[in-house]
Amino acid sequence: MKILLLGSGGREHTFAWKISQSPLCKKLYIAPGNAGTATCGENAPLDIEDNAAVYDFVVEKAIDMVVVGPEAPLVNGVWNYLRKMRSTSHVPVIGPSMQGARLEGSKAYAKKFMQEFGIPTAGYREFFSTKTQAAINFLKKKATLPIVLKADGLAAGKGVVICPGREYAIAELQEMLSGKFGEASRKVVIEEFLSGIEFSVFVLTDGESYKILPVAKDYKRIGEGDTGPNTGGMGAVSPPPFVDEVLMKKVEELIIQPTIRGLKARTIEYQGFIFLGLIKVNGEPYVIEYNCRMGDPETEVVLPRLKNDLVELFLAVKDRRLTETVIEEDERAATTIILASAGYPGNYAKGKKITGLEKIKDSIVFHAGTKSSEGQTVTNGGRVIAVTSLGKTFKDALAISNKNADLIEFEGKYYRKDIGFDL
Ligand code: AMP
Ligand code: GLY
Repeated sequence: MKILLLGSGGREHTFAWKISQSPLCKKLYIAPGNAGTATCGENAPLDIEDNAAVYDFVVEKAIDMVVVGPEAPLVNGVWNYLRKMRSTSHVPVIGPSMQGARLEGSKAYAKKFMQEFGIPTAGYREFFSTKTQAAINFLKKKATLPIVLKADGLAAGKGVVICPGREYAIAELQEMLSGKFGEASRKVVIEEFLSGIEFSVFVLTDGESYKILPVAKDYKRIGEGDTGPNTGGMGAVSPPPFVDEVLMKKVEELIIQPTIRGLKARTIEYQGFIFLGLIKVNGEPYVIEYNCRMGDPETEVVLPRLKNDLVELFLAVKDRRLTETVIEEDERAATTIILASAGYPGNYAKGKKITGLEKIKDSIVFHAGTKSSEGQTVTNGGRVIAVTSLGKTFKDALAISNKNADLIEFEGKYYRKDIGFDL
C-alpha cells in the first residue's frame, strides 16, 4: 500500500516509525514531515490545510490510504473533500469527517453532545458575543470559583483560561468575546472547575465498534511541578499507575460506549481516533475534552507500547471489522521527555544545530520540530525532540530518557526533569 501521513510533529514521526514497520506499507509519504520522518519515508511539501492540494497529491501518487495526524485538516473537512471527489472516494481516511471533528473543533458542540448522551463532564453555560452582558451577570452572581473559560473554537491550545476570581474572569471573558482568539472565541463556554488527576484515553473506532489503546498521562505545563503556562505537552507516561481496571471499566461504560452510540445516533462518519482528555475526581472519570486525533506527546508513548501492526488495524477500521482484532500491549512502561526551545510556549529561535543524536542507543528519538538544513539537523519548532524509553517500571524508563535527554544538545535546550513526579 501507498500511505500518505499528514503532519509534521513528534506524533507524526511516531506514526511514521510505526507505519514503516508494517510489511503492508510499500511506500510512505509524510506531508510536510520533519527531519525525523524523512528516515521512515519520503517527505512531501504539501499545505495539509488545503484540501485540493491533498486531493491532487492523492491522485498523482495513487495513494491507497490517508492517515491524518493533527486536528486542523479534519476540522477543515479533508475527509469530506476526498470522499466527495470521484477519483478519491474509495480512499480510506483515518480520521473523522468534519462533522465528527466538531467534537474537538467546537467546545460548545462537544458539551451539548455529552449532555445529550449522558456522558459525565463539568456543568457549563455557553454565551455568544451578542450576549456579553448576560455572560458577565452569570460570572458575577452564579459561577462558582475558580471559573474555567473556554474559547469555543480551535485556539492553538491557548483557548482555556482558569480564572481564580470573578474580576479576572470578567476581564478575560470580555477579551475573548471581543475576538482575542478571532472567530474561535466569539462564543465562550463557561465551565465548572473539576479538581483531580488527568489522564488520556485513546480509542480507535471503525464507526461500529472500538478498541482501547494504551492509556497515557501527559504533562502540559512548561515548568517543573506543573507550573507556568500550558504547552502542547512536555512529557508523557504510559500506563499511568493510578488508572486501574475499575476506573477503566467506568471509562468504557460511562464514556466510550455512549460516545460511540452518540456518533451513530447522529449518523456521524467516524473512522479514526478519539482522544478522551479525562480527569479522575473522587474515583469517577469525567471528560475534560474530546480530540479527534491522537495526542502529542502521548503518541510517543502509546505507539511504542502497541505490539499490533498499525496498518493492519487501519485496514480493519476501513473494513469495519475492528471487533475481530485484539490489541496487544507491551507489558513494559514507556515515558517520553520533550526537549524544547528556550522561550517556548512563547517566542523562540529556530535553526539551532542539534548534536548528539547519534549517541542515543537505548531510547527512541522522535523528532517534533526539526528540519534538515545543509546536511545538518536543526531546530524548527518549540517542541524539538521527544526522547522515548521503555522500562520495567515508568521510573526505569524515565531514568533512561533523562540520561539521553542530557546527551542531545542544541542552543537553548530546555526540558522538564520531573516528568512523572506526581505518580
Ligand atoms: P483543554 O484545552 O480543554 O484540554 O484544556 C486545557 C487544560 O485546562 C486541561 O488539560 C485541564 O488541565 C484544564 N481544564 C480544562 N477544563 C477544566 C475543568 N473543567 N476543570 C479543571 N481543569 C480544566
Ligand atoms: N498532549 C495533549 C494534546 O495532544 O492535545
